[in-house]
Amino acid sequence: MRQRVGIESLAVAVPHRYLDLEDLARARGVDPAKYTQGLGAKQMAVAEPGEDAAALAATAAKRLIENNSLDPANLGMLVVGTETGVDHSKAVASYVQGMLKLPRGMRTFDVQHACYGGTAGLMAAAEWIASGAAAGRSAIVIASDIARYELNSPGEPTQGGGAVALLVSAEPDLLELDFGMNGVFSMDVHDFWRPLGRREAVVDGHYSIACYLEALSGAYRGWRERAIAREMIRPKDLPSEQLARVVYHVPFCKMAKKAHAQVRRCDIEDTRGVTWNEALDAQEAPAMTASFEKQVASTLGLCAQVGNAYTASLYLGIAGLLEKEAAALEGERIGLFSYGSGCCGEFFSGVVGKKAAQKMAAAKLGNVLAQRERIRFDEYERVLKLPPGEPLQGIHAAPGTFRYCGSQDFRRVYAAG
Ligand code: COA
Repeated sequence: MRQRVGIESLAVAVPHRYLDLEDLARARGVDPAKYTQGLGAKQMAVAEPGEDAAALAATAAKRLIENNSLDPANLGMLVVGTETGVDHSKAVASYVQGMLKLPRGMRTFDVQHACYGGTAGLMAAAEWIASGAAAGRSAIVIASDIARYELNSPGEPTQGGGAVALLVSAEPDLLELDFGMNGVFSMDVHDFWRPLGRREAVVDGHYSIACYLEALSGAYRGWRERAIAREMIRPKDLPSEQLARVVYHVPFCKMAKKAHAQVRRCDIEDTRGVTWNEALDAQEAPAMTASFEKQVASTLGLCAQVGNAYTASLYLGIAGLLEKEAAALEGERIGLFSYGSGCCGEFFSGVVGKKAAQKMAAAKLGNVLAQRERIRFDEYERVLKLPPGEPLQGIHAAPGTFRYCGSQDFRRVYAAG
């Protein structure tokens, strides 16, 4: 019998302040509808320098451990997927291990591959467990990032930040992965990158969308081939319609609409033997909209409030979906697409577990968002103009959270609230 493996539970941490996108649009002289409808964004998290990727990762992992009464002695691996690490050498995972005082008999490492690092970490952990090497132990995989672009640039409304900590184990109460069914696609491109020494990403925005869609097509087709071979999906009808929901990596929420349209185009071209054209596009538009509303819309709620969180984006989508629909989706298969610029894309799937609703109740997502504070545009701009690494003075870590509070002899110091 195949080893069961997947996500047993999750926890989320987000910066404690956010900017409303309509406020940003007004300040920049842009029609707010461009951001809210054109990009599908409502709010974006604004991380202060004290809320770096390590502090957010540790806060999410602390919640995961406490909310689920985990015994740290049963952990054998701690992986952080991030593209906004805090040191050229030292792993964020080591900082997290230190902040949480986790046992020393575990493997700790980071994975960097733009927004794909969290998924690479999840698969490394799942394969470690499925191989038997874990010998009954579990892994914590954390996706944690701060998305930053230049002020006044096209990327500005697609910022944000957050962390999602996943407990990966052989008891996948939240989501059992369809092990070995993943489809992957990678190529060497410059669509988005962050040269050494730069805090803000360099991005060729429209090209990055094209790369995302190319990677999605390749990864989805790979997954579909394996899913059909294993008779998990029927080759007739539209294979993607047999997934109860599809969660996409969303640098901005409207991307999910473009992505879902691409998946349906792949299905229609391949199952009907046609080539996509404008007439087909118009003919398929109503079905496309209906399918988006049914399979994708409910995955976007949390992402629209947090903005882009790079590696954490897909996992915020899963958290937001299961927060709302875990009970209804019990036993249903959902599709997942992870994309990291540079680039690598992975399409995979899993079945929502019987205890998913209970696990999501433990994650207390409502509390996480309720503690946030809306800030004005001038405060947002002030925070983003602070020198790199400079923590805000006089603000302490809130109870249950961690904060970067300065460096001594180049050693980063974190405070626990
Ligand atoms: N009302 C409603 N919609 C409007 C609008 C208005 N007043 N003005 C523009 N829009 C729509 C556009 O039609 C477009 O929709 P479409 O993509 O469905 O055609 C959307 O808003 C964005 O407008 P666009 O002119 O393309 O925006 P932009 O050139 O300023 O930049 C990005 C958009 C996404 C390229 C930019 O935000 C970016 O670079 N982001 C970071 C990179 C990224 O997220 N990449 C994704 C893959 S990883």
